Amino acid sequence: MNQTALHQLMISAHPHLIQDKDFDRLFELRLSGNLSLIKELYFSLYPEEDHTISFHKLLRSLPALFKDRPLPLRELDIQRLSKGNWYQSEKIVGMQLYVDHFNKDLRGLAEKIGYFEKLGINFLHLMPITPRPLGENDGGYAVNSYHEVEKRFGTKNDLLDLTEKLRDRGMFLMLDFVANHTSNEFSWAKKAMQGDEKYQGYYYTYPDRTVPDEFEKSLPEIFPMTAPGNFTYNAKMDKYVMTVFNQYQWDLNYSNPEVFLEMLANLIKLVNLGVDVVRLDALAFLWKKMATQSQNLPEAHALIALFRMCLQVIAPGVVFLAEAIVAPKEIIKYFGTGQIKGNECEIAYNATLMALLWDAMATKKTILLYQNIRSLPKKPREATWINYIRCHDDIGLGFEDHHIHEIGWDAKEHRKFLLDYYCQRIPWSPAKGMMFMYNPKTGDGRITGSCASLLGLEKALEQNDRTHIAQAIDKIIMMYGIILSYGGIPLIYAGDEIGTLNDYSYLAEKDKKEDSRWVNRPDQDWEAIANLDKGKTYQSKIFFALQKLISIRKENPVFADGNNLILYDCDNPHVLVFERSSTTKGEILVLCNFHEVPQWVDRNNIGSFGKVAFTRDLISGNAITFARDALMLNPYQILWMVKV
Ligand code: GLC
Repeated sequence: MNQTALHQLMISAHPHLIQDKDFDRLFELRLSGNLSLIKELYFSLYPEEDHTISFHKLLRSLPALFKDRPLPLRELDIQRLSKGNWYQSEKIVGMQLYVDHFNKDLRGLAEKIGYFEKLGINFLHLMPITPRPLGENDGGYAVNSYHEVEKRFGTKNDLLDLTEKLRDRGMFLMLDFVANHTSNEFSWAKKAMQGDEKYQGYYYTYPDRTVPDEFEKSLPEIFPMTAPGNFTYNAKMDKYVMTVFNQYQWDLNYSNPEVFLEMLANLIKLVNLGVDVVRLDALAFLWKKMATQSQNLPEAHALIALFRMCLQVIAPGVVFLAEAIVAPKEIIKYFGTGQIKGNECEIAYNATLMALLWDAMATKKTILLYQNIRSLPKKPREATWINYIRCHDDIGLGFEDHHIHEIGWDAKEHRKFLLDYYCQRIPWSPAKGMMFMYNPKTGDGRITGSCASLLGLEKALEQNDRTHIAQAIDKIIMMYGIILSYGGIPLIYAGDEIGTLNDYSYLAEKDKKEDSRWVNRPDQDWEAIANLDKGKTYQSKIFFALQKLISIRKENPVFADGNNLILYDCDNPHVLVFERSSTTKGEILVLCNFHEVPQWVDRNNIGSFGKVAFTRDLISGNAITFARDALMLNPYQILWMVKV
């Protein structure tokens, strides 16, 4: 059973406990509700005969961890439970940002709340703000602590002030929990290096290459060009340690239950700062097993569900986002399958849609997008997506080859075309992206670059080409129009709302120059923002168009995620058409044209929307007209069609 539903039932059955603010009793009820699943998951990972004592330790730790949950958060937890699946609301629109690149530090960020409100943002994903090594640190994803604040971002009090301000305004905060690895400067790693065997056992450490070599036979490489291999020799320990990502990121060994217990405490300390959504970083990698790729293993799912079930007992208002940028059919499993369906992560990145939208932009065709989305099982009713176009990472072409073959294209050639198109290897392409982790042996690579540069704005501006500037703006608006209407939380990558171009300054920095993901981690351009209201700059065109889309989304409950998306195949390979409808919240049809010439959509191919006499586009407010039973979509136009 979905345990959230159980907890919702429980609180409605005990209104007096809420009235009396009897949080301890509510905690006990939740613990009793989740206990059998916690036990089952725990012993599935750590067999009973050896780990009964550590299980008792877990049981003792839960009330102790709950004790530290601040009162306002306990109250919020209960409000959230009574509200149901709050994260599916049409009212939520997010932004992802680097605190230092945005406005210096946490205080600077708090000063910009007005900017978020102006655009309509009420959900923030702050990139890691925890202490990290000086020099290379993977943008903060090498953590020295899970709940302290890196000095240059401010203090823990600044963070607490910010979370309070956000709560007062009904805004949400998402922070990372980098569960898979710590930095090599983390206290456990330091102790391991001093020879402490207990802490060496918190990581995968080996005295020689026998086990590492065995592992390497099946482990893929994540950063083959900058961090080849999955193990690093550490001279201080005279041991090899598993480092799947970078050499300074040591993989935690969750087959040791002590690691789970300590990481659970770290997680709770983090959420007790006022975090609403926890981004579980690199969660596909959490469990390692010889002779496998050590990704997406059933044990990893059990471990995440175990974290989830414990977190729910302590902080039922907090939810998990799965950062699983893996094959489409694997992503959906992070919502939980079988017995843990609905009990794993509530939210996942819709990396599939993201990659397919970039595919459609380059090919001007939506066939692969349709093919993939159609092949995916429906997500659970209580789950939702984070829909996004760009983020701080690369764009991986994560869709599967067989889908490319099925539509009659050659997978290898097709992938090559996409890399060529986006990474400046085709002169006619408008895109100015960069290659990431290109492997000349296999031809595999990933793409980096800002949304605007990938969609042609940078090149068009360089060439002072007005037509293409206008086209790039339309593309940005269409891409964002899709994720704002698709169902889920739309997440705008800071800077995209003003068409920020690639930032090449990283090439001059020794610790960054090998990692082209930095091309899309620019400083927020406050000068351009100061001029938004003044003129007709490209920045203001994009900003105000997105502002409008966001406000329309928020006013129309039909955009809430009710797991109600219907794709329409309308016999035109250049368009994407989908319906969002519900008996209580209304209906809307989204139509978009991925081609640079106008496209026609037959009214017989759009279900009931083609049968009514009058329809209107919510975006322009104009009536939609059919000419000889077809409607025309301008190049890169998006329509949000409603019946009138
Ligand atoms: C996630 C982050 C990425 C980081 C990796 C390792 O994928 O998004 O930026 O490099 O985890 O922590």
